[in-house]
Amino acid sequence: MSVASSQEPVAGIAQDFLPLKGMDFVEFYVGNARQAAHYYRSAFGMTLTGYSGPETGSRDRASYVLEQGQIRFVLTTAVRAGHEIARLVSLHGDGVRDIALSVDDADAAYRETTKRGARGVREPFTLRDDSGEVRMASIAAYGDTLHTFVERRDFKGSFLPGFVAVGGPDTVSRPTGLKYVDHMVGNVGWNQMNTWVHFYEDVMGFKLYQTFDDKDISTEYSALMSKVMSNGNGRIKFPINEPAEGRKKSQIEEYLDFYGGPGVQHIALGTGNIIETVTRLRDQGVDFLKVPSSYYRELTARVGKIDEPLERLEELGILVDRDDEGYMLQIFTRPVEDRPTLFYEVIQRKGSRSFGKGNFRALFEAIEREQGLRGNL
Ligand code: FE2
Repeated sequence: MSVASSQEPVAGIAQDFLPLKGMDFVEFYVGNARQAAHYYRSAFGMTLTGYSGPETGSRDRASYVLEQGQIRFVLTTAVRAGHEIARLVSLHGDGVRDIALSVDDADAAYRETTKRGARGVREPFTLRDDSGEVRMASIAAYGDTLHTFVERRDFKGSFLPGFVAVGGPDTVSRPTGLKYVDHMVGNVGWNQMNTWVHFYEDVMGFKLYQTFDDKDISTEYSALMSKVMSNGNGRIKFPINEPAEGRKKSQIEEYLDFYGGPGVQHIALGTGNIIETVTRLRDQGVDFLKVPSSYYRELTARVGKIDEPLERLEELGILVDRDDEGYMLQIFTRPVEDRPTLFYEVIQRKGSRSFGKGNFRALFEAIEREQGLRGNL
């Protein structure tokens, strides 16, 4: 691994041609948004805050807005056959369609990125209702994934014009302490990692933050390579993975096969107390990957003293890694749909700004055990 930028990312807003304030929302296209929303509320602890669908004048789709901390997910489904959303769901299964980014000027964001080679998907347009207006524009990222720029002007309503607020307590939601999106990882095809690294550098003004080669991320059987891209103020981190040659099929290849091309592999959600968060998530039915108990026998020698009781970490299967800035705790779910595609990471950072390099082997061996069970190794 090499750390390309070991200093605190400088807020280079003045020179940044694409100043991003953060992530605005993540939109998923799903087969059945009502039921998917139930899962994210009862298992992940998100709260239903907004809705748009046939009852609110949206004739072709239904969307559920779910929030927890700063995390905002939108689950969207087509309500008729032959719709573009239905076509994408048929191709990919449930997955991330849009990683929407918050900006002060959507027109400038669209102009600057398309000028630098981004493929425009939707030119700047304004959504408005009685609560005000929001200006948006979309460009294409890897596969069928989009980046929509969201400029919230004087808008006071629920999520976006056209959505209605869902009031009252959400009796289905069981909060788990998840607070923010730490990073979102994309899987791209063979030899495509650098193409997309250059896209984020040239078109979006991101910088290379960390690099992991196949020596860092390989097991006896399979390998992958990864580069982490970060925007100017360091708030947005997008690692990009590609498969690497191994004796057997890389987990990235399995993803590409089942997703039908490049797409979002995992979303890392940050918490301030991973033991509490993972205990609740498990109680509420979220399935996590297991690592062998040998991992915990070697842990103290590898990471030194930490605040959390080892027995609790082992019970829950939480992994730990340390670098020169501190340590971090992380755990990975199984894929959250029937296809072996999108999964989640839960992460708690205690000084470390890295991605758990010391856990790669244990983690990938755990993934391969599952890949083997699916007959895809
Ligand atoms: Fe991650």
